[in-house]
Amino acid sequence: MNHFWFIACIQVMAACGLAQVSIIPQPVEVKMPESAGNFSITSKTSIYLEDARLAPSAAFLNDYLKQFYGFTLPVKKKSGTAPGIHLRYQPPASPKVGAYTLQVDAKSIVINGETEQGAFYGIQTLIQLLPTAKSPALSIPYILINDYPRFPYRGMHLDVGRHFFPVAFVKKYIDYIALHKMNYIHWHLTEDQGWRIEIKKYPLLTQVGAWRNGTIIGHHPGTANDNIRYGGFYTQKEVKEIVDYAAKRYITVVPEIEMPGHSSAALTAYPHLGCTGGPYKVQETWGVFKDVYCAGNDSVFSFLQDVLDEVLPLFPSKYVHIGGDECPKDSWKVCPKCQARKAAHNLKDEHELQSYFIQRMEKYINSKGKIIIGWDEILEGGLAPNAVVMSWRGEKGGIEAANQGHDVIMTPVSHVYLDYAQAKPEDSLVIGGYTPLKKTYSYEPIPAGLDTSKSRHVLGAQGNVWTEYMRHPSKVEYMIFPRMSALSEVLWSAREAKNWERFEGRLQKQIKRYELWGVNYNKKFE
Ligand code: ACM
Ligand code: ZN
Repeated sequence: MNHFWFIACIQVMAACGLAQVSIIPQPVEVKMPESAGNFSITSKTSIYLEDARLAPSAAFLNDYLKQFYGFTLPVKKKSGTAPGIHLRYQPPASPKVGAYTLQVDAKSIVINGETEQGAFYGIQTLIQLLPTAKSPALSIPYILINDYPRFPYRGMHLDVGRHFFPVAFVKKYIDYIALHKMNYIHWHLTEDQGWRIEIKKYPLLTQVGAWRNGTIIGHHPGTANDNIRYGGFYTQKEVKEIVDYAAKRYITVVPEIEMPGHSSAALTAYPHLGCTGGPYKVQETWGVFKDVYCAGNDSVFSFLQDVLDEVLPLFPSKYVHIGGDECPKDSWKVCPKCQARKAAHNLKDEHELQSYFIQRMEKYINSKGKIIIGWDEILEGGLAPNAVVMSWRGEKGGIEAANQGHDVIMTPVSHVYLDYAQAKPEDSLVIGGYTPLKKTYSYEPIPAGLDTSKSRHVLGAQGNVWTEYMRHPSKVEYMIFPRMSALSEVLWSAREAKNWERFEGRLQKQIKRYELWGVNYNKKFE
C-alpha cells in the first residue's frame, strides 16, 4: 500500500474537495488520493479469487450486479497483477474478525480480508461505491479503506409467529442484514399465534399449532376478528436452506424456541403440556397469555428436549434462544404439579420456579455444546449459570447480567424496537411508542452505568421486529428502513465516528440504494 498516494480525508471529504463517498456504516478509515480518478467495472472486468474460500463473496457481488445492473463478472482463480478485482484473504498473526482493506486505483480493486468475512464486508463496501443508477460501466473512485467492526454481535430479529413470512422474504431479509455488515438473525419461531418450525416427532405442532382461525382487525384489542384461517411453517428442509443461505453471507441464524410462556400454539397441539390440560387455542389476538408450559410436569421437559434434539442440528449457531420473557405465573400458582415441584426444590416463589425451568433446560442445551440466550426476565429468580441475556426492558437487565459476569446483547425498547412508531403522527398502524431514526442512531450499546471493566460483556445489540402489525413483507421493510441503516452504524462504526448530521448526509445516497433495491422504506423519517 503506497501511503504517498493518499491523504487522510476521514469524515471531511467535502472540505478536501474530493469525490464524496457515502458508506453506511461509516468505515474506520477512508483515504482518497490527491489526484482523483475512477476504475470502471464492466462485464469484461474479471474477479480474481486469490483464495477459494472467498467464492461466496464473489458470488454475492455477482448476484448483486446481475440483479441491479444486469450483468455478471467472470470469476477466475489465477492471481497476480492482472487488471481487475482481486479478492484476497491474508490473515495476520492475530486477525481482527471482519477486518478488511479495500484499495481502488487505475488498474485494480483489491479487497484483502483478515478473515473470510472481512473480505465479504469489503464486497459490501464496494457495493456501496457503485453508482445507484443502472449503467454498463460502473465507476468506482480511487480510494483506500481500512475497516473493521466495533461489536461482534450485530443483529436483526424477525418474529414469524405473529405473521408468517415466506422463505423468499426471509432470504431477502438476510440480504438486507448482509448489505449492512450485520451478522446475526434472531429467528423467533414459536409464539402464541403460531408454531413455525416442523418437528417430525410432534407433527401436531405444525398441523395444529401453525394455524389460527382468525386475526383481530385493527389495533389491539381490535374492532372485530377477520375469521380467516391464517398460518404457515417452515419445513426442516427449508430451514436448512435458509441457514445455508445465511452462512454464505457470514450470518448466523439463532433460532428462538420460546419457553415457558408464549406457548399457546404448542399447548393447543399437545394440551397435556399445560397445567390444566386445556383445551387451548392458537391465539387470534396479541398480548400475553396466562396458559404456559407446566413447570411441574416432567413430560414438558422431555417434550422440549425432543424438540431441541431436532432443532439444534439444523442450526450451527453456538447460541439458541429460549425466550423466557412475559411468562405469567397464574397457572403455576394453582397447579398441584407446579406447587409440588416448588416444594421439592425448596423454591421461594414462582420466579424461582421459572429459574428452575430455564436452568434445567440450560443444562440440557449446554450438554449439547450450545449456549442459551434469554430475555432479561431470566434474571428474576436467579440467572442460569452460562446464559447470555438479551436486555429488552431497558438497560438494567444488561447491566445486572454483565455485572454478574454474563455476556449480554442489548435490545432496549427505547431505541431498537423497530416495531415502534417512527414519526408523530405515524402513518401506519403500529404497536405504539415513538422511536424516530435519530433516536435509534443515538443509541450507545455500552450502558453509561456499566463499569468499564464489564463492557467487554456487551457483545452488541439487535433491532427487534415484532410483527403483530406487519402482515406483509413491504410493511417489514417500511419499519426497518432507514432505522436498520442507523443501527448498522451504531454497531459497526467507532463511537467517535458517529455524527448525526454526516449520517443524514450519507443517508441520501442510501435512500437511492433503497430505490435501486425496490424496497418500501419510510420516507417521512425524523
Ligand atoms: C419482548 O419484547 N417480549 C422480548
Ligand atoms: Zn403446572
